[in-house]
Amino acid sequence: MELSPKITRLGTESAFKVLSKAQALEAKGVDVVHLEIGEPDFDTPKNICDAAAKAMSQGCTHYCNSQGIITLRAEVAKEIERTRGVAVDPERVVVTPGAKPIMFYSILALLEEGDEAIYPNPSFPIYESMINFTGAKPVPIPLREELDFRFDVDELESKITPRTKLIIINSPHNPTGGVLERDDIRSIAALAKEHDIIVLSDEIYDHIIYEGEPYSILSVPGMLDRTILLNGFSKTYAMTGWRLGYAVMPPELVDPVVRLIVNSVSCTAAFIQYAGIEALTGPQDSIPRMVNEFKKRRDMIVEGLNEIPGVSCLRPKGAFYVFPNIKRIGIGCAQLADYLLNEAGVATLAGTDFGKYGEGYLRLSYATSQENIKKALDRIDKAVANLAAVH
Ligand SMILES: Cc1ncc(COP(=O)(O)O)c(C=O)c1O
Repeated sequence: MELSPKITRLGTESAFKVLSKAQALEAKGVDVVHLEIGEPDFDTPKNICDAAAKAMSQGCTHYCNSQGIITLRAEVAKEIERTRGVAVDPERVVVTPGAKPIMFYSILALLEEGDEAIYPNPSFPIYESMINFTGAKPVPIPLREELDFRFDVDELESKITPRTKLIIINSPHNPTGGVLERDDIRSIAALAKEHDIIVLSDEIYDHIIYEGEPYSILSVPGMLDRTILLNGFSKTYAMTGWRLGYAVMPPELVDPVVRLIVNSVSCTAAFIQYAGIEALTGPQDSIPRMVNEFKKRRDMIVEGLNEIPGVSCLRPKGAFYVFPNIKRIGIGCAQLADYLLNEAGVATLAGTDFGKYGEGYLRLSYATSQENIKKALDRIDKAVANLAAVH
């Protein structure tokens, strides 16, 4: 079968591949500690589950508004106004099954061959995949450990050309846990305004932050009409499997994105959207409880990794990932990730799964119990020592 050349340009997300490799080992009886998948290990709060069940039993089981039911859009608009300090019309809000489709639809709606899109590297692999899919040129900005994995704004400026149409930012950041500073965000906004560029700001980890206050580019005056703010319920409310996300976007983008929704999934399940309304309007105490626990695990994993010879690890300010430097171990990160899975029963991701500038790093998700983290650290320590003995 001859496939379209376009489809061969579409990348993927390795976390799911590693998960299936790890599951194949588990099927053979191997005990695997999972540090590869980026999802909270907490249950979705009961009030949210109850709201979905109630909506389902009351008949919210039919097609609904493709843009998202108006009550949820209104609650999202209020939440954004409360947290970003900018008034948002619910007509700018688009609801999708998970936050990922926002990347897919908005990049598809904006870019074409001849355009350029700047994005961080390493970063969530779907950005690069989607830019490539449209035929536009992906222009990576390397994120460096020396800068706490933040954007180098001067470097960003040097990469802007008359063809630059989109800048993608993600803070708190997957895979490094880095958080952009207020000044970084203001400088990026100034460049976007000066050069008439749209910003896709992926803020899916906005509540999972350990130091300082989150700051959104939408809060910078004049950015509302050039920002696509991507967010959702997966991480904040431990709702990855529900598939519920949203964006706040400029009005000109709403219609094309809704047309893409109509052409693909028609709408997001109505009873899931009612769960989203409950998530935003119900008790919020599950969030600080989860974040406090993540913080303890972060400290435990950072300290443990820094005790392993050949490994050094920054203390990230957000998300639930660490991105340890493994260069001194002396093998490539993909090889090390395979070795740790097959020989030590620890599933991790290679830094290069997030782009070429991730070489020399691993990504470990600490969205798992402290007991599992201790077990993984112990196994990694022994496996790395065995490797050093062989070398
Ligand atoms: C940076 C980033 N953006 C977006 C997503 C996708 O979120 P969702 O599961 O709601 O589609 C993820 C998921 O891992 C992520 O890490």
